[in-house]
Amino acid sequence: MSPEAGREHWGSRLGFILAAVGSAVGLGNMWRFSYLTAENGGAAFVILYVAVTLVVGLPVLLAEFAIGRGSGRSPIGALAHFGGRAWTPLGWIFVATGFLILAYYSVIAGWTVRYAVTAAAQGFGPDAGAFFGRVESGWDAVAWHAGFMLATVAIVAGGVKAGIERAAVVLMPLLFLMVVALAIYAATLAGSDGGYDFYLAADFGEILDWGVLQAAAGQAFFSLSLGMGAMLTYASYLSEHEHLPNESLFVALTDFAVAFIAGLAVFPMIFALGLQGEVMESTGGTLFITLPGAFSDMGAAGRVVGLVFFAALVVAALTSAISLLEVVVASAMDGLGWARRRAAVILGSVIAAMGVAAALSPKVLDVMDKTASNLLLPGGGLMLALFVGWVMRDPMAEVRRGAEGVRWFVLWRWLLRVPVPVVLAVVLWQSVPALWQTVLGLFG
Ligand code: PFF
Repeated sequence: MSPEAGREHWGSRLGFILAAVGSAVGLGNMWRFSYLTAENGGAAFVILYVAVTLVVGLPVLLAEFAIGRGSGRSPIGALAHFGGRAWTPLGWIFVATGFLILAYYSVIAGWTVRYAVTAAAQGFGPDAGAFFGRVESGWDAVAWHAGFMLATVAIVAGGVKAGIERAAVVLMPLLFLMVVALAIYAATLAGSDGGYDFYLAADFGEILDWGVLQAAAGQAFFSLSLGMGAMLTYASYLSEHEHLPNESLFVALTDFAVAFIAGLAVFPMIFALGLQGEVMESTGGTLFITLPGAFSDMGAAGRVVGLVFFAALVVAALTSAISLLEVVVASAMDGLGWARRRAAVILGSVIAAMGVAAALSPKVLDVMDKTASNLLLPGGGLMLALFVGWVMRDPMAEVRRGAEGVRWFVLWRWLLRVPVPVVLAVVLWQSVPALWQTVLGLFG
């Protein structure tokens, strides 16, 4: 029996698209993107980010879609299908990356759940910094992380159609409405203009810096969920006749749009309340300290705005966490023949246990995040680009199925062969020394 026989499928094209957008749109959009933009030259960074998304991110996204749909398997089997046994170790790395990212991602997601509940119940109090200190680590953080993992496991255990797709179809439109409502509300606040200036004024001088390219490429990978087979796994549940180029373009542009609109909410709100001096050095600080401070200062309205904001984050995090767990679960189902429920419960528990370390130590969380987003995802993307560019036989034919006559992706394979690997190699070259310092800091 081929692995495709009896494999689950999406119920509809929209279901697949929303699930893929759900994977892409996550904490990265609402937390990393706005902060990186503010730090790296405002509108100039946004332009560079869009360029990197289209030139580097989009080709790798399409590559993952093509490998996933073409093989009808999760990453390890998919790479073996097109590349032979020699490529299975890369699949193993993808699965390990899924374990690692979900372990700490779920800890941060647990914070957002606690913030949403607190915003609704009693507000953050006068000292948002102290509140964050209590939320960030310790056994409370472990408990909220465990609760979030439980929800993730429950949805993945429900299956592709009844679990993942149903969650995405309900949650993604809701998320979009919440983010747009927040941006509109922010525009009505007196004094928000400074926020737009800060967020959108272009400083082209910054763009010439390698560090900025690295930030843009790293963010594009993290934000599009690339480099560890999440998009590949979702595409493995597709039928033959999907228009993969259009779908990858749609996912990439929607992911960018949500990030951009989230920035239009965050900075105007901070400036309207005069808290710009407190835009924090760390990304976590802006989201979890400065903004809650702003919500507290807004009085009664702040309760509602805070609730909507953190509820949006919870939703964004949940649909991304689902895709991370699905990579691991699908691999156990395909490779070990486990039943879905069993895989979700057992592997979800293992990941929850790994996350305890991140919930107890912010330093460990930081090392996990940097290892994943600066090393494993760009490294995985580099290998995928080389795989589809040079190893896989006739990837164009795979993409053409369902997309006959499309011209814009003729450049695709060429991009995967040279420009994408070059950019990713530069990014890795830049980030490895910094990563090493972070790891040393864990022991220092
Ligand atoms: N794309 C998610 C975000 O922006 O928060 C994070 C992510 C999800 C990365 C799934 C990788 C992944 F496989």
